[in-house]
Amino acid sequence: MDKQSAHLLVVDDDPVAVDLLQEVLSKEGYDVVTALSGEEAIARGLDNLFDIVITDVRMGDKDGMEVLRSFKKSAPETTVIMITAFGSIETAIEAIRQGAFDYISKPFKLDEIKFTVRRALEQRRLLQENKFYRQELLEKYQFKNVIGRTPQMFEVYKTIAKVADTKSTVLLYGERGTGKEMVARSIHFNSHRNERPFIPVDCASLAETLIESELFGHVRGAFTGALVTKRGLFEEADGGTVFLDEISNLNLSLQTKLLRFLQEHEIKRVGGMESISVDVRVIAATNQLLEPQVKSGRFREDLFDRLNVVFIALPPLRERKEDILLLATYFLRRFSEENHKSISHISPEVLEILTHYSWPGNVRELQHIMERAVILSIHPIILPEDLPGKVFDEFKRTAFPPSEKPLSLKEVEREYVLKVLEEVKGNKKKASEILGIDRTTLYRLLGKE
Ligand SMILES: Nc1ncnc2c1ncn2[C@@H]1O[C@H](COP(=O)(O)OP(=O)(O)OP(=O)(O)O)[C@@H](O)[C@H]1O
Ligand SMILES: [Mg+2]
Repeated sequence: MDKQSAHLLVVDDDPVAVDLLQEVLSKEGYDVVTALSGEEAIARGLDNLFDIVITDVRMGDKDGMEVLRSFKKSAPETTVIMITAFGSIETAIEAIRQGAFDYISKPFKLDEIKFTVRRALEQRRLLQENKFYRQELLEKYQFKNVIGRTPQMFEVYKTIAKVADTKSTVLLYGERGTGKEMVARSIHFNSHRNERPFIPVDCASLAETLIESELFGHVRGAFTGALVTKRGLFEEADGGTVFLDEISNLNLSLQTKLLRFLQEHEIKRVGGMESISVDVRVIAATNQLLEPQVKSGRFREDLFDRLNVVFIALPPLRERKEDILLLATYFLRRFSEENHKSISHISPEVLEILTHYSWPGNVRELQHIMERAVILSIHPIILPEDLPGKVFDEFKRTAFPPSEKPLSLKEVEREYVLKVLEEVKGNKKKASEILGIDRTTLYRLLGKE
């Protein structure tokens, strides 16, 4: 969505606040309309289409919650942002429960408003784009459950689309948890082989002696314990796809056998004489680059060339920050459905923490963290307390590097007092009531004895 064309409605019964917001947001390039009451806002919503409504909660007759409900009914696509009174977290949570995008508590900083509006528009753009791509590219190729809209991921989708229905071998490269197996599956499911088996083989977890008979089968008596003739996975997968995970773990002798298979499309069972022809596509994956292994002689160059016909590198999550948000939301929805919970939101603080984390375990780690958060959360919104400590610790280290001195208790106290004073528009009597202190103490805290 073009920022210029974004259509905003600002609702507050305080004309000063409305004017201020209109001025600031217009300067940002948005088209801003105002309303001074809930009734007026609701009426405007009937014959205008707004992208975003920003409404104060506390208003006369029809309050912000009613504005929210009305818009959710008449224009469910409109994003509603609430402005809540300082400290009224219950109201904020209730608003989120009823479908508000986010809340800002009073007294707000103008930057915060700008940022939230920007984030809301970005989210709308993502949803629209995703809808578009799901219809176009994604649905056509059934990238079921593959989430991601960053340019890096679109490169991946394009390559999958190009190679899926060919016989070409594919080499997938990426750190752990970046989705290699998932991409292998989507290649398989987007090919004419999709009615035949997709068989994953973890070359790292099988014992070297077992893997050959596992892949190629064996005849009776081929080795001690081979009591019957058994077909291998390549035969089982005939017509389908074999996914060789952690390919760098194959020893040289197996590499030779695999190469022969890729060249001749035939296998020999261990101990057998007969060549059996099988039609299998091979997709291989590795989480370390193979070139150095080729150089050092641990990986056959000719096999590498064969596998490397099409190379797809999956980017680590920390290099595609925008996908973090998208994936987190996707997992939130999925796990809250699976666990019969109605958690619909991720708090802005959590989003901030998640985008700063380095994600050594990539998408899988994010998936686990979101699942855990959904299970632990007792609110309709994921809060920082639902995250594991390590994510937090890293955030604290990067957000508050040791060189930057943290605030002292006194300073925090003073900031808080100032915030409350701002909320009550400087009324010291009210402020001291809210804070539960007398006025002398208030002055002392402000450093004006
Ligand atoms: N783009 C994505 N959209 C949705 N889910 C994803 C995406 N990428 C990965 N996942 C999920 O993350 C988990 C890890 O993915 P996958 O097993 O494909 O990774 P991998 O690269 O094979 O990892 P490893 O190297 O550890 O085997 C899976 O549960 C998968 O469904
Ligand atoms: Mg894997």
